[in-house]
Amino acid sequence: MRRPIIAGNWKMSKTGPEGAALAVGVAKAIGDIAGRRADVVLCPPFTALQAVAGALAGSAVKLGAQNVHWEKEGPYTGEVSPAMLRAIGCAYAIVGHSERRQYFGETDEGVNKRTRAAVGFGLTPIVCVGERLEERKAGRTGEVVTRQVRAALAGLTPEEVRQLVMAYEPVWAIGTGVAATAGDAQEVAGLIRKLLAETAGGDAAAQVRIQYGGSVKPENIADFMALPDVDGALVGGASLKADSFAAIVTAGAAAER
Ligand code: PGA
Repeated sequence: MRRPIIAGNWKMSKTGPEGAALAVGVAKAIGDIAGRRADVVLCPPFTALQAVAGALAGSAVKLGAQNVHWEKEGPYTGEVSPAMLRAIGCAYAIVGHSERRQYFGETDEGVNKRTRAAVGFGLTPIVCVGERLEERKAGRTGEVVTRQVRAALAGLTPEEVRQLVMAYEPVWAIGTGVAATAGDAQEVAGLIRKLLAETAGGDAAAQVRIQYGGSVKPENIADFMALPDVDGALVGGASLKADSFAAIVTAGAAAER
């Protein structure tokens, strides 16, 4: 049985003090769920990591970054290394979010480098894949997700694949209020698990947690958690308020699976 994993992606929101307050609110509102019934991760912007790490001290809620570079250090202006993220207390890093791919030119190859580096430095990558609206309309969802997953996993050993978290985030569902249907989410999550099995074998694939992301709310989380291949959620907008994120964590951890 895979343990549910609910992560909040704050994107470009929250200063250090604001983030610390939100983290305290989340930790209080979810009580003892984190670490016992679900893994709960907060992913603030880099500038709030330190403050949020402080606010989460003594809590089982984990810290994640929104991206990670592949080198330990060096001439990469504007980037943050996996070693730096470890040093500040991160356990997770989002990799390949569609906003990085869409607005900042991140490629499948870069996503692979970031994924490999994260694992190598002991961070759990949350590897995001998902099709754009025109790709779905053209019937290309399977082809696009297959390409993204195969590229992200290239060169990883089965032992490394086991450590990943995957996130299926259809681009058209992000921030739109229009979530995927449960049927569509299961179809793609099932495809991702099949691709994991092809790359790393059935045992490893059975252990990897796959999140759904895109307009997840307290009202729809249970529908996604009930799917056989969905083990959690990557939450954007609804993670910016302690009560809505806590409601998602609570309903997600309690959902029939
Ligand atoms: P959303 O974002 O929940 O606001 O749709 C999800 C994400 O981008 O991870």
